Amino acid sequence: MTLEQSVNIPRSYYRDQGALERELATIFGEGWIFIGHESEIPAAGDYVTRNMGANPVIMSRTEDGEIHVMLNSCTHRGTQVCKLAYGNTTAFRCGYHGWVFGADGDLKGVPGRRSLYGPEFDPSRLGLRQARVAVRCGLVFATWAQDGLSLEESLGDMLWYLQGLLELFSGGLEVHGGAHTVDVRGNWKIHVENFAGDGYHLKTAHKTMFDLGVVGTQAGTVEGFVVNDPHGHSLRAQYLADEGVPAVAPGYEDELLATIDADEQHRRFRERATVIHGMVYPNLLFITTAPLYFGTDADGAVAFTQLRQITPLDPHRHRVTYWTLVPKDASPDWKRRSYLYSTRQHGAASFFEADDLENFRRIDAGLGDSVAGVAPYNYELGLDVGERSTPPWTGPGRIVRQDLTEANQRNLVKRYLEQMEAGR
Ligand code: FES
Ligand SMILES: [Fe+2]
Repeated sequence: MTLEQSVNIPRSYYRDQGALERELATIFGEGWIFIGHESEIPAAGDYVTRNMGANPVIMSRTEDGEIHVMLNSCTHRGTQVCKLAYGNTTAFRCGYHGWVFGADGDLKGVPGRRSLYGPEFDPSRLGLRQARVAVRCGLVFATWAQDGLSLEESLGDMLWYLQGLLELFSGGLEVHGGAHTVDVRGNWKIHVENFAGDGYHLKTAHKTMFDLGVVGTQAGTVEGFVVNDPHGHSLRAQYLADEGVPAVAPGYEDELLATIDADEQHRRFRERATVIHGMVYPNLLFITTAPLYFGTDADGAVAFTQLRQITPLDPHRHRVTYWTLVPKDASPDWKRRSYLYSTRQHGAASFFEADDLENFRRIDAGLGDSVAGVAPYNYELGLDVGERSTPPWTGPGRIVRQDLTEANQRNLVKRYLEQMEAGR
């Protein structure tokens, strides 16, 4: 009996400019897109510049504490009004003709307004284009759609898991070390589906890391599960089955463990977890991993949590932004080490990233054209394979009791095709 159907996605979706334009208009143009973490702009006037699909945006905080996400494009002739990656300011002054916009995007000043513009000129309709903004678990999302699903509705079952990942400690998390950005080869969707649930590539793509002992040998039996949600989100979680190992999320300071403020099921979601990685559709990726995963060469290794935002640049290139999140109440030394391991293991120039980015590049190189490259990719892994063991937690979403399966990738492709083909 077939438990679920496979999916069929034409390769043209990975190489056609037309497909990218539809993605930008529909998926990035209408959906909730991750912009950054609220801790990146703690004070009034703080800002960062980011990408929201093809659109450059500014995420800023105003005097009243509100977070704004707005198009980084002057309403006069379209010049980017902010050239820096981050900073603090009371106003953004356009470098072309000098229009001045407040941290809230309102047009505050126009050179020669009285003498050169007529009485009908109305600055109040010429503020920077504003996106709708919502924040959950410290994550700032924005959408150009002024109506439609709320962020909460759009996150669906994934919200419960984000709470388990990002709200375990009562003091919350903050970004440490800023945002790192790199432009790489390969269609953006390949990177996204890797994080969505690909445990299958580890022993091949990252074989050298295992052979060298860089990622260590995990003590005891490891069991894995994947979870997905019809909005396209998913995650994969691995647990040490050995009851003898410390139960609470490993790799944190004892003082910090005392600040855990989570219900029983969220605690169980993190207990004995060696790695949890996943994706908030369409382009926010996350991974949290424990020191047992680092191997014997890393005495003093601590846990880390990393976020990534994936932005298409063209059908064959994408931009990756990396953040490391640390508990606010951790010691300065713990924070520094967590940032070190995040960068070392999963940063832009890390062991893992060198392997993965090379495979993304080769997928792009092997795409073929509309004559030779017509065979769709295969998504049958884990079909017709029975359930294995039971996850240690009870949570929402479709939970697949199997570690190596493409159930999440099938879920992602289904959601993607649904949006691309129905335009919703
Ligand atoms: S383009 Fe910004 S002031 Fe002219
Ligand atoms: Fe990988």
